[in-house]
Amino acid sequence: MRILVIGSGGREHALVWKLAQSPRVRDIYAAPGNGGTAELAHNLDVSPTDIESLIKVACDRGIDLAVIGPESPLALGIVDALEGEGTPAFGPSREAARIEYSKVFARDLMRRYRLPCAQGASFACFKDARDYVQERAAPLVVKADGLAAGKGVVVAASKEQAIEALDDIMEKRIFGDAGDQVLIEECLVGREASLLAFTDGEAVVPMIPACDYKRALDGDQGPNTGGMGSYSPSEFFTPELTEQVLETIIKPAVRAMAQEGKPYKGVIYAGLMITEEGPKVLEFNARFGDPETQVILPLLRTDLVDIMEAVVEGTLSRIDIEWSAESCVGVVMASAGYPGSYETGFHISGLGEVDEGILIFHAGTTRDQGTGNLITSGGRVLTVAATGKTLADARAKVYRNLPRISFEGCYYRKDIAAL
Ligand code: AMP
Ligand code: GLY
Repeated sequence: MRILVIGSGGREHALVWKLAQSPRVRDIYAAPGNGGTAELAHNLDVSPTDIESLIKVACDRGIDLAVIGPESPLALGIVDALEGEGTPAFGPSREAARIEYSKVFARDLMRRYRLPCAQGASFACFKDARDYVQERAAPLVVKADGLAAGKGVVVAASKEQAIEALDDIMEKRIFGDAGDQVLIEECLVGREASLLAFTDGEAVVPMIPACDYKRALDGDQGPNTGGMGSYSPSEFFTPELTEQVLETIIKPAVRAMAQEGKPYKGVIYAGLMITEEGPKVLEFNARFGDPETQVILPLLRTDLVDIMEAVVEGTLSRIDIEWSAESCVGVVMASAGYPGSYETGFHISGLGEVDEGILIFHAGTTRDQGTGNLITSGGRVLTVAATGKTLADARAKVYRNLPRISFEGCYYRKDIAAL
């Protein structure tokens, strides 16, 4: 088979790495990929949001399966477009991906179908939103409706902070159209974890639960990022809890989407707060998480091509998906300044000096045109991951190897999976 993976992050490198293990795969193309995918796939200089060029690539290269990593092409209807031209695509349609790119839609769906989530309300008018905040008690969570690269959520400790966030989103429009509407929610307390599942629209098969770390600095300090590390399984996520999340959240969400005339297939990602009253939804994503994918796929035993094909063909209930009983930890190495502004173009050294079994998933890396050396090209540069018999084993392996890799200004959290 010829497979096209759309995207350029650590998640996409992990997808390419896993897909490349399938004996069914002949060629993998990455659009645009990164310095890591270049080792396993043909990188193509095509943006993930350039739908027209992606369709052309799929036709010209005879792609048998397209795998969509990030949310933006899903929101632009890449799956509908590819399938319209006869290329099977792994991911939800534009209408189904709405569960991620409109938080107001997702909230409305959850309320109508009685899925457990935070209390709150949505607003299209700044004044109404401000009045609502005035009537409530802090802390409050303010969320832009649309896609905002993981930055559209503010957990406001005071009413003033909540109003400032509303002003930024609705009046200053710092996220553009994504701020046409907002959600204001009560602040849930508990432990956070993500449960991702494969679904073909009917069958739902969970992956191993994972935890990610969104703040830039140790002890969950500093600004929110795309994710600084992750581990799987989440130690507090019992099989009973997985069952409960499946039965009360993920399966009802998939059924609801079908009933709404938006049948859902691909990966459904439930971001959860495990509260004293049970698990509640923080958000849905319509895709694999990043960096969760880098710690989930190393634990997957089944051929990912078989799974994805079954999802696309609607035969997921016929395959057995097997997972390793090990644990996996992944730590992100980032550029100084990330998630704010940062410099790129620094030489990355030490990748050849890590122990056997260490997995290095690239994100912001590229080859220098002149020297051919691997250099930094983004904020999140690498995820360094390892599996182990226990979480502590996996963690020790990662942290033993991280100091061997370096580039100017690199930083990483020291407390990933430190339980
Ligand atoms: P989201 O992008 O919706 O996952 O939100 C980003 C982060 O904000 C989450 O990972 C949570 O840590 C936090 N968050 C979102 N919604 C709530 C909520 N209702 N209560 C508490 N924390 C929240
Ligand atoms: N790690 C969170 C996300 O992928 O949205």
